[in-house]
Amino acid sequence: MNEYSSIKELLDGKAVGREVVVRGWVYRARTSGGVLFLVLRDSTGIIQVAVKKDRVSDKAWKEAGACTRVESSASARGVVAEDKRAPGGFELQATDFTALHVAEVFPIAKDNSEEWLLDIRHLALRSRELTAVMKVKATVLEACREFFKKKGYWETTPPIIVSGACEGGSTLFSFDYFGKKAFLSQSAQLYLEALIFSLEKVYAITPSFRAEKSRTLRHLAEYWHVEGEEAYMNLEQLIEFEEEMVSFICQKVARDRFQELKLLGRNADELAAIKPPFHRMTYDEAIDFLRGKGMPVEWGDDFGADEEKALTAELKKPLFVTRFPKRVKAFYMKQDPEDERLVLNNDLLAPEGFGEIVGASQREDNNELLLTRLRADGQDPKAFEWYLDLRRFGSVPHSGFGMGVERVVRWLCKLEHIRDATPFPRVINRAYP
Ligand code: 4AD
Ligand code: MG
Repeated sequence: MNEYSSIKELLDGKAVGREVVVRGWVYRARTSGGVLFLVLRDSTGIIQVAVKKDRVSDKAWKEAGACTRVESSASARGVVAEDKRAPGGFELQATDFTALHVAEVFPIAKDNSEEWLLDIRHLALRSRELTAVMKVKATVLEACREFFKKKGYWETTPPIIVSGACEGGSTLFSFDYFGKKAFLSQSAQLYLEALIFSLEKVYAITPSFRAEKSRTLRHLAEYWHVEGEEAYMNLEQLIEFEEEMVSFICQKVARDRFQELKLLGRNADELAAIKPPFHRMTYDEAIDFLRGKGMPVEWGDDFGADEEKALTAELKKPLFVTRFPKRVKAFYMKQDPEDERLVLNNDLLAPEGFGEIVGASQREDNNELLLTRLRADGQDPKAFEWYLDLRRFGSVPHSGFGMGVERVVRWLCKLEHIRDATPFPRVINRAYP
């Protein structure tokens, strides 16, 4: 008797004529010709439930009537029938109906302002669009773990409370740690580097924090970071790894989240076509390209949203930009042995103007150079003593990367704003709900 069907399994035609029980939340309600039509939503889909007064008990009729308030929760028993006019093409003809909870008037309507929707994010999350995005995100994370496993990587658990900056002091969140200053991690990288000396191939999926002081379409103060680090790997091998991984994610999402992508306005075929090789350009070539487009960039400038958009607007596949000037990149990136102004790094930019999704590099393994770079960055080398130790005991060439999960989800789901790639976005003016 307690066997509930998921709504999705009623929508393939095989359940027609069967009596089933479903439960969920009222998504829409209307009355027509003495019949109550309640569209029920569960985590898998929506189905129309038709409740006719003369086919159910008085109690069931009354409870269905109370559930015309959207977002009421209910369970319905009924026979599945084909109905072209119903959303999804099927209808449950109710033989019983139970209200689980009659909702208050739901505060979300069609014309709500963005800020109001963010204030009631805990309720807005029930929308079909956000539900689809959350499923895509889960699949991205699943794909990452699957891919790392295939490549022989160990999943590790680096700390979130840290004593030094990985990505520069300006975006560091600090707090009082038992009377001393500590920080929220910007990246697990330095700790992953320590772990390669025992495990060789490691990854971590952790929250990372950036005190981004401006509001943009692609920055969060808290985001999910997928990071990998591998001993003996060089820049070329790193690029191939990233290419294969991003392609793997796209293939899996295109296959497993076909319906969700469609609902979000993304054609799954576009993602299925993301296969190696991706586009490649050196930083120098990128500067020439941007100048050719009339953009006022100087050699030595870092790229912002506008430059990245211009570089990728016409592309269907991601673009690697390699070998940036040392002075715009982090202290740990290895100096290019062929040109000491440059580092052996790459930024991976998503196509269609979405911009950076991965930051990656071979790591500097010369302690003298590391110290110089740390000092030039204004960092206290004391906080990095443990990190410098890694180059004193069996140092090996190694490389790694960090991928922003919400950046990837924004691209795959074609979202205007990165905040919709996460259930409870943290940005400069918001830590509620
Ligand atoms: O390029 P970033 O700063 O590189 C690092 O943190 C390296 N330590 C990673 C590593 O090599 N292990 O950040 C990596 C990625 C970016 O490419 C971007 O996708 C994402 O993290 N990211 C953000 N995503 C959302 N909001 C922000 N404020 C982000 N800052 C970086
Ligand atoms: Mg970066």
